[in-house]
Amino acid sequence: MTLIVVRTRDELAAALEGTRSRGGRVALVPTMGALHVGHAALVGRARRAVGHDGAVVVSIFVNPLQFGPGEDLDRYPRTFEADLEVCADHGADLVLAPAVEEVYPDGDPQVQVEPGPLGSVLEGASRPGHYRGVLTVVAKLFGLVRPDVAVFGQKDYQQLVLVRRMAADLCMGVEVLGAETVRDADGLALSSRNAFLSGAERAAALVLPRALRAGVAAGEDGGDAVLAAAHAVLAEEPSVHVDYLALTSPGLTQSHTQGDARLLVAARIGSTRLIDNLAVRLCAPAACGDGVPATG
Ligand code: PAJ
Repeated sequence: MTLIVVRTRDELAAALEGTRSRGGRVALVPTMGALHVGHAALVGRARRAVGHDGAVVVSIFVNPLQFGPGEDLDRYPRTFEADLEVCADHGADLVLAPAVEEVYPDGDPQVQVEPGPLGSVLEGASRPGHYRGVLTVVAKLFGLVRPDVAVFGQKDYQQLVLVRRMAADLCMGVEVLGAETVRDADGLALSSRNAFLSGAERAAALVLPRALRAGVAAGEDGGDAVLAAAHAVLAEEPSVHVDYLALTSPGLTQSHTQGDARLLVAARIGSTRLIDNLAVRLCAPAACGDGVPATG
C-alpha cells in the first residue's frame, strides 16, 4: 500500500474509513519527526499489533505545548521528506502531519491534561509543564485518530508510564504498548537530539549507557550498590553534567525497591540534554544467585 499523507481531521477520517468499515484495527505511533531507526521500530511494532488488515498511522507534529521557554522548539530538527521515506519503508499506511492551527485552532487549549504527581518528578522537575503538554497532545491525537493501539518507546520511560496511566485513568480505550530502546552499536540510545552533538560530545555521551549498564550489573548487591556503581562511571566524564540519576519502581512511584526496578538518567552535554534508562533487577545478595543463603 502506498503511503498517504493527511493534514486535517477530515482527510484523516476519510483515509481511515475503509479500514474501519472492514473492521480493521488502527495503530498510532505519535512522533515529532526527525525519524530514526528507533521510531522505525515503533512502526514495525504497530504493524505487528494490528496485522495487515489494520492501519498504521504515524503522526508527525512538533508540539509547541510541551516545550518550555528557552527550550529547543525552534531548533528542533525537521526532516519531513526523509521521515516520509522511513514511514513508507517500514510499512506505515498513513502519516498525519497537521499544522499547529489544525491541532490548536484557538491557541493553547483551555482544558489540558493534568499529569498529577508523576508529572513533576524526574524530567518533570527540570521541565515544568512538559508532561501537561505531552499528555494534552497525546489525548488530542487519541481523539483525532481513535486508535485501538498506540506505541511509545521505553527511551522516554516517564512519558510511557504517564501515557499508560492517562489511558487507564481516563478510560480512553487505547492499548498502550512500550517498545524497547533502540541503540547505536556503541550503546548510545538513538535520539533526534543526538544530531546536536559534536564528535567529542557524542563520545562523552557514551558515559550514560555505560553508567546504566554498570548499575544493572550491580543489581545483585541491592539498590545502593546500583546507584554507587552508576555514579562512579558518570564521574569519569566531567563534561557531562548529570541532572538526575534515579532508581525507582517500574511505575516510578517509589525509590529503592526490591525486585524489578528502573534506573534513569538525564544529563546535559554542551547545550544538549539527553535521557536514558534501563530495567534493573534488584535483590539482596542472599536472595540472588543459586539460592544458597549467604551466612556471616
Ligand atoms: P519523539 O521524541 O519524536 O518520540 C516519538 C516516539 O519515539 C516516543 O514514543 C519515543 O519514546 C520513541 N523513541 C525515541 N527514541 C527511541 C529509541 N531510541 N528507541 C525506541 N523508541 C524511541 O516523544 C515524543 O516524540 C513526543 O513527546 C510525543 C509523544 C510525540 C508527543 O508530542
